[in-house]
Amino acid sequence: MKVGIIGVGNIGGTLAKKFARAGHEVQVAAARGASQIRQQVEEMGAQAVEVTDVAKGVDVLILSVPFSAMPELASAVAKARPDVVLIDTSNYYPFRDGQMAELDNGKPESVCSSEQIGRPVIKAFNAVLAFTLAERGLPAGAKGRLALPVAGDDSRGKAIAAELVEAAGFDAVDAGGLAESWRQQPGNPAYCTELTSAELRDALASAELGRGARKREELMAEFIAASAFPDHDTVIRRNREVAATRDLAA
Ligand SMILES: NC(=O)c1ccc[n+]([C@@H]2O[C@H](COP(=O)([O-])OP(=O)(O)OC[C@H]3O[C@@H](n4cnc5c(N)ncnc54)[C@H](OP(=O)(O)O)[C@@H]3O)[C@@H](O)[C@H]2O)c1
Repeated sequence: MKVGIIGVGNIGGTLAKKFARAGHEVQVAAARGASQIRQQVEEMGAQAVEVTDVAKGVDVLILSVPFSAMPELASAVAKARPDVVLIDTSNYYPFRDGQMAELDNGKPESVCSSEQIGRPVIKAFNAVLAFTLAERGLPAGAKGRLALPVAGDDSRGKAIAAELVEAAGFDAVDAGGLAESWRQQPGNPAYCTELTSAELRDALASAELGRGARKREELMAEFIAASAFPDHDTVIRRNREVAATRDLAA
């Protein structure tokens, strides 16, 4: 497939490398411009392009930027074919993105992304920490292979996103339509907790509407207050513990 990626950070960069290695034709753009990312991107086996060109001719376009930057991508996305599969990896973190009332009032983040860029999106690769994505993928069928959720309203788009999740080394679990995609947002049991397929299905089913945002804030306050940012395994453990504990504020 021909895959475009906007964002060459922790997630976009890792996906570029993995998809290029899997034999896909990958072109990548970032805010800095093609000349500033060319060396890094070529070392990944991909091609550096400008944001204005990244959507042209691709089968899949992955949006991997901070949530607050999503509206800036609308004109680039408008150049994509009508049947392009758009994948949104973003998460809303108010400390980074600023407070957004509609999200605070419960609109699923990827519903909002979709409205901001004017096209339907598939939500995938948002519920995995960059380290997990880079280091903990396994071949299909391997014992203990971790799983990632894929949500969206278009079955063809979901199937293609699921194919890319598998190519990245993870089982893909159908997480329902975009209206249900809050289940894989920060603070929920399915978010960055390194689960197998069966565990992930249970985690998605056990999510409680409105609770994730409170848990997200609880965790961020804890991580920011710590003298040093916790290591990867501590983050996973605390994500699991905090998402699973009763919400005293509810
Ligand atoms: N880090 C994680 O573990 C993780 C896990 C799952 C999901 N996510 C989510 O995935 C998204 C990306 O996360 P990340 O950690 O990869 O972020 P990151 O490392 O900060 O990288 C962000 C990338 O977005 C690019 N960018 C920002 N604004 C842009 C714009 N207006 N036009 C084009 N490119 C723009 C940046 O370009 P420059 O390089 O030129 O600055 C950068 O390459 C976020 O929404 C995040 O919440 C992150």
